[in-house]
Amino acid sequence: MTVLVTGGAGFIGSNFIFFMLGRYPGYRIICLDKLTYAGNFTTLESIKDDPAFRFVKLDICDREGVYGLFEEEKPDIVVNFAAESHVDRSIEDPEIFLRTNIIGTTVLMDACRKYGITRYHQVSTDEVYGDLPLDRPDMFFTEDTPLHASSPYSSSKAGADLLVMAYHRTYGLPVTISRCSNNYGPCQFPEKLIPLMIVNCMNNRPLPVYGEGKNVRDWLYVEDHCKAIDLIVHKGRVGEVYNVGGHNEMANIDIVKLICRELGKSDELITYVADRKGHDLRYAIDPSKIHGELGWLPETAFADGIKKTVRWYLDNRTWWEDILSGEYRERYDRVYVHR
Ligand code: NAD
Ligand code: TYD
Repeated sequence: MTVLVTGGAGFIGSNFIFFMLGRYPGYRIICLDKLTYAGNFTTLESIKDDPAFRFVKLDICDREGVYGLFEEEKPDIVVNFAAESHVDRSIEDPEIFLRTNIIGTTVLMDACRKYGITRYHQVSTDEVYGDLPLDRPDMFFTEDTPLHASSPYSSSKAGADLLVMAYHRTYGLPVTISRCSNNYGPCQFPEKLIPLMIVNCMNNRPLPVYGEGKNVRDWLYVEDHCKAIDLIVHKGRVGEVYNVGGHNEMANIDIVKLICRELGKSDELITYVADRKGHDLRYAIDPSKIHGELGWLPETAFADGIKKTVRWYLDNRTWWEDILSGEYRERYDRVYVHR
């Protein structure tokens, strides 16, 4: 079985690759990644010589390159993590989000049609549903909640989801979609809330909380997301969407205070800054479908997951210091191309 993982040098994709190599020793895993600012080859360096693994530096929008790779590797399963993923960047500059997240998805699915696959899986997000009010704790996103995206990021992901379903209906492509809540864990780029607050706290820098810090996210440990995708790809029904989330809603300010406590720092580093434009209030997933059909349940409680995550950033200072200095960007050429 050959699995093509796009965006595998990013946060969730790299965790997925390590998970799959451990779980399926007979599988061949190909990682296709453009290595944008968010893709870090250092994360995958320990497996670069593993015969079950291959890394290919490529843009998912590069039709010729993608077709060439499919011709060569004939993947059975494609799991598409590749995306521009940061809401704040999408507010600054939407266009690259449309290119990668929509055009890139289309190119990948065209390659799947041309060369044939058993499953195309789109890694989507709960953000395609828009947001929920803060004062309605009884409301959750189900798979039937209408798409109602707020940011250029979530709109581009919603556009991709519509195309995935259109390719299923029009061309019979065997697709599945997962829509997961916010992930946290090792190897997350320190621009997203949890890793940013951890590294700023470690460096005694201000912790910028948007607005009043009351917005709510539903946090899931990254390995639980990887397990959900594995189940969906192998056992999920073709043409179906599965929501993934662990009923772990928390206000941003509570997360930031918890990180301060974990690192033994006072709350004085917390700085309230201007709110994000169009800031989604609350995300909350109803995971009954994936639980009922595939038996998935989150395994890592937030109290344990956040401890493990803080520990990882304490133990892997070079990983994030290189990112902050930009050093990691030259690393691929040094260790892979010119060695
Ligand atoms: P990330 O930004 O950490 O990683 C994205 C990866 O995609 C990087 O390695 C980058 O180099 C690569 N990439 C970007 N553009 C590319 C292109 N044109 N061609 C090839 N590779 C390209 O993102 P992440 O947090 O790991 O998210 C992965 C996926 O999961 C995304 O599709 C995102 O929408 C989705 N998702 C993320 C979360 C979350 O909390 N992080 C939650 C739900 C869903
Ligand atoms: P983020 O990690 O960017 O994920 P998303 O916007 O996709 O949910 O942000 C999580 C929440 O944290 C969101 O409500 C915005 C807030 N936030 C801050 O308050 N300060 C920050 O510096 C960042 C990056 C996010």
